Amino acid sequence: MWERKNIFKCFQTKKKVQRYLSDKLPLRCGGEGVTMKVKDFAIDEVFDSRGNSTIEAGIATHGGFAFYASVPAGKSRGSREAAVLSFAEASSAKNMKRLAALKGKDFPNQRSFDEFLIKLDGTEGKTKIGGNVMLGLSMAFARAAAAGRKMELWESLQKEFFGKAAQKPWEPVLFSNLINGGEHARNDLDIQEYMVLVETRGDVKSAVKKLIALYRDLGEKLGKTKRVSNIPIGDEGGYSLDFKNNFEPLAILSDLVRKKGLSGTFRLGMDAAANGFFSKGAYLFGGKKVSTAKLAGIYEGYFKKAPALFSIEDPFAERDTAGFALLSQKLERKMVVGDDLTVTNRSLIEEYAGKGLVNGVIIKPNQAGTVTEAVEAVRGAHEKGIRTIVSHRSGETDDVFIIHLAKAAGAYGVKIGAPARERIFKFNELLRIA
Ligand code: PGA
Ligand code: ZN
Repeated sequence: MWERKNIFKCFQTKKKVQRYLSDKLPLRCGGEGVTMKVKDFAIDEVFDSRGNSTIEAGIATHGGFAFYASVPAGKSRGSREAAVLSFAEASSAKNMKRLAALKGKDFPNQRSFDEFLIKLDGTEGKTKIGGNVMLGLSMAFARAAAAGRKMELWESLQKEFFGKAAQKPWEPVLFSNLINGGEHARNDLDIQEYMVLVETRGDVKSAVKKLIALYRDLGEKLGKTKRVSNIPIGDEGGYSLDFKNNFEPLAILSDLVRKKGLSGTFRLGMDAAANGFFSKGAYLFGGKKVSTAKLAGIYEGYFKKAPALFSIEDPFAERDTAGFALLSQKLERKMVVGDDLTVTNRSLIEEYAGKGLVNGVIIKPNQAGTVTEAVEAVRGAHEKGIRTIVSHRSGETDDVFIIHLAKAAGAYGVKIGAPARERIFKFNELLRIA
């Protein structure tokens, strides 16, 4: 059997280290000759899981190494997310000229790299360089820094940003989206995501195996009850056929989890992504126009009827803070999670956690636009005593960076879609490093 260690050497081909399958692999090529001095950078085009164009960034360091990262894309986006430039805008001569300021700079750590980029951009929303371009470069630099420190990516991030606080055993809860609606599907569900929340309790592999089995059983059950042989699949790998109403998926999932004897370690969650069905001061939910108070009452009913339901994300539109406050009061022992509401922004998270609007937040690095700012968002949340769930986007790439960030931070959960298709890359990285 070959030893992984020997394979690492082959990454150093002439002047370039090729892409790696996993962040666990390249670090062994690091150390020798890898500095954190930027020799050059690259902005390339790759495609996401919806086939849309996205950015892959590269950082070449002195010593002949190059490190890459690609950036995912959201569809149900918060309005305060960092700007996304098209590849043409991102790679324009103007932007390349701007970014040339990176060349030859020696950065002692991630924070200094990101602060340099933020200053270079100089806008609130990262509209000049582009939030997606900045994040790609920032993640690529994080890989260079890890190699320079002779550490795995998660270790390097943990050392720089989280210290010992996050070093207890990491047992993330898997937020896995099994039924897709809203903007991620073409069915009649208003709610965007119906998830199972799987405890890993020190054994990620058996948790993932059970999850895969449940995903398959659910497919079979839906095929039978809905009498379809080809079940449509949504953007995050969940089943996306029509349902009687917005509650039916919860009833089906509750029933299945109970029947399979998984109630001890499997709970349920939803992402309403309510921006998607909010218009002109009201919610269009289940075919009716409903007020904030009425919608809060409907959700409360769901939690009563499905006791396995534990978490709800973006139950209201991003500016409807009164809705979040109302529901958080009603659901004291459950999780109310901000995503479009908080957009991985430290000050918004601190403000809304402080007001009791949410007790959990989604962390998506591309909402923030640099690794350091995503880290700051996590730290803000943890300092306020609320939970963090590090998340993919509905348009994903093969990049597994978020799993390392989640481990470094000791995040409460990872939200990575159904255990299928391109989503499986994140699950596999979790098996490698958790
Ligand atoms: P998005 O959705 O990646 O399409 O924005 C994911 C989410 O709302 O959590
Ligand atoms: Zn969301």
